[in-house]
Amino acid sequence: MAPDPPALVEFSACCREIPTEYSKEMKKFGDLLFQLLSEALGLRSDHLREIGCVEGMVMGCHYYPACPQPKLTIGLGKHSDLDFATILLQDHIGGLEVLHWNQWVDVPYSFGGLVINIGDLLQYISVEHRVVAKSVGPRVSIASLFGTGLSPNPKIYGPIKELVSEDNPLIYKETTMQNYGARYFEKGLDGSSTLLQFKL
Ligand code: OGA
Ligand code: NI
Repeated sequence: MAPDPPALVEFSACCREIPTEYSKEMKKFGDLLFQLLSEALGLRSDHLREIGCVEGMVMGCHYYPACPQPKLTIGLGKHSDLDFATILLQDHIGGLEVLHWNQWVDVPYSFGGLVINIGDLLQYISVEHRVVAKSVGPRVSIASLFGTGLSPNPKIYGPIKELVSEDNPLIYKETTMQNYGARYFEKGLDGSSTLLQFKL
C-alpha cells in the first residue's frame, strides 16, 4: 500500500474503499508510532522516519476458516516479521500467540485494540509469534507491515550509531531489506529466525 499503492480498480469492487481508507489511517498511525519508538530509544523523534521506516507498507489481510480439527494443524506458523514493525488488527476469535521465555502466550482480543509487533529489521527483539487454528471462526486479521519487503530498495540498514557503545556493542551486520528478504524466503518458513544469519 506504500510507497506506491495499487490503483483502485485493482481491488475487487466489494473491498475497494475501506482497505484503502484503513491503509491511509495506518500510515498516519505508523508515523506516530515510529516517532514514539525513536523517543523511547533516546533518539530525535524523527530519526526512524528519516531513515525510511515508514516509507513502505504492506497490508496482509488474513482469513482463517473455522477448523474442524484444530489440534491437527496450525493457522499461521511460528515466525517473526520481515519489516521494522507491524500494526495488527485481530478480531474476537483470538488465536494469536507470542513466544515469551520459550512459552507460547496468548494475545487476547481487546475491543478496539491494536497489537504492535517489532520486526526483524528493527534488529532489537523481534517477537516470534504464530496463530493457532480454532474450531470457531472464520477469523479475520489485518497486518500492516512497515517495510519494503522484496521491492528494490538500496537503503542499507545497520546498528544505529547513536546507540552503539562499549556496553551496547554491535550485534548484527548491515544489510538491505531486499537482501534480508531474499534470505528470509530462501530459508523458508521453518520457524528459525533469519536474524541469526546476520549475527556478527
Ligand atoms: C502476519 C501475522 C497474525 C494474525 O501477518 O505476519 O503474524 O493474527 N499475522 O493474522
Ligand atoms: Ni507476523
